[in-house]
Amino acid sequence: MKKISDRVCKVEPSGIRKFFDLARKEKEVITLGIGEPDFDVPERIKDGAIRAIENSHNHYTSNYGLAELREKISKKLRKENKIFASSEKEILITAGSSEGLDLAFRTIVNPNDEILIPSPSYVAYIPTTVLSGGIPIVVPAYEKDEFRLLPEEVEKRLTKRTKCIVLASPNNPTGAVLRRKDIEEIADIAIKNDLMVISDELYEYLIYDNEEHFSIASLPEMKERTITVNGFSKSYAMTGLRLGYVAAGKEIIEGMMKIHQYGMLCAPSISQYAALRFDDCKKDVHAMAGIYELRRNLLYKRLNEIKNISAVKPKGAFYIFPNIKQSGLSSENFAEQLLNEEKVVVIPGNLFGKDGEGYVRISYSTSTENIEKALERIDKFMGNLNL
Ligand SMILES: Cc1ncc(COP(=O)(O)O)c(C=O)c1O
Repeated sequence: MKKISDRVCKVEPSGIRKFFDLARKEKEVITLGIGEPDFDVPERIKDGAIRAIENSHNHYTSNYGLAELREKISKKLRKENKIFASSEKEILITAGSSEGLDLAFRTIVNPNDEILIPSPSYVAYIPTTVLSGGIPIVVPAYEKDEFRLLPEEVEKRLTKRTKCIVLASPNNPTGAVLRRKDIEEIADIAIKNDLMVISDELYEYLIYDNEEHFSIASLPEMKERTITVNGFSKSYAMTGLRLGYVAAGKEIIEGMMKIHQYGMLCAPSISQYAALRFDDCKKDVHAMAGIYELRRNLLYKRLNEIKNISAVKPKGAFYIFPNIKQSGLSSENFAEQLLNEEKVVVIPGNLFGKDGEGYVRISYSTSTENIEKALERIDKFMGNLNL
């Protein structure tokens, strides 16, 4: 008997884990590999979680999530994103944005539907598409365009089987932020070709240089065909609390609910009560974003001073994606040798899609002191390559 399903066999385990396992075995390691904030959760949210436990909020909530939280999210979406989603019918609280993504793909993908996925991008989009029975079609985003996904690249890959375009802005691993004009053009493509859009906006508050976050679902005719996926993990340093949400038309949310109610039942109750304080935490979010921006500036300047490395300036998230092609090493060999020789963890760019080959992802969700030390070690590593 073949125990594992064909679908699961088609999926590779995440290559990122391997680097954490290698790093754990070494001493004196500095990790620039981590994809989560190094900050504590804001005090108000922490306090909300403690009170939720004290008040015995240990029960299931509505499958949709706490009505009060959905109302607050609906207000936030209206005010900040210009998305008009009814709190009762068009918002679903999920266990992290990961569940939101999983529900989104599983709800809309039919066997052999083609899903356009930016490359490089977050590691879950391709496997989740495959697990839903779809066919991932990668759309390259190039360094010369600061890794922004361009409408013409999307257009080139349309076929009769295309069902959906995935957008991720700000992007993990490149930090690219899509321009409003490009989003408008991508929306036109979606409308003209009757396509869905899954828009992952998890890093919306981590944006620098006065760049603007723009939600595709705010455009005319786009709300009906967009699933906006968001959550609290990155901006509110709540990764372990597993809380996210999706906003979409009623029919889509009802479809997602069919999976959510059997698979997850509801998002964690304590986390939902804690998140009720999210709109009181603007200052904390802003303060964290300010620190990330300073770290980004430091990395951007110093990486470009290292011989044979270059990096475009990321506009968002907490990653920078330097070009290491001059080293003559593949992304994986670069990361492995840097770890073995200089005890610095970075993540090979190819793990985020084939267009990430020749790059590595550096996360700046670690202290300035660690970043400074790591930069010295990377400089030494490049020097020792004797190029
Ligand atoms: C772009 C992007 N989307 C979604 C996720 C999933 O995050 P979570 O499930 O914690 O909300 C991540 C995590 O790294 C991410 O980088």
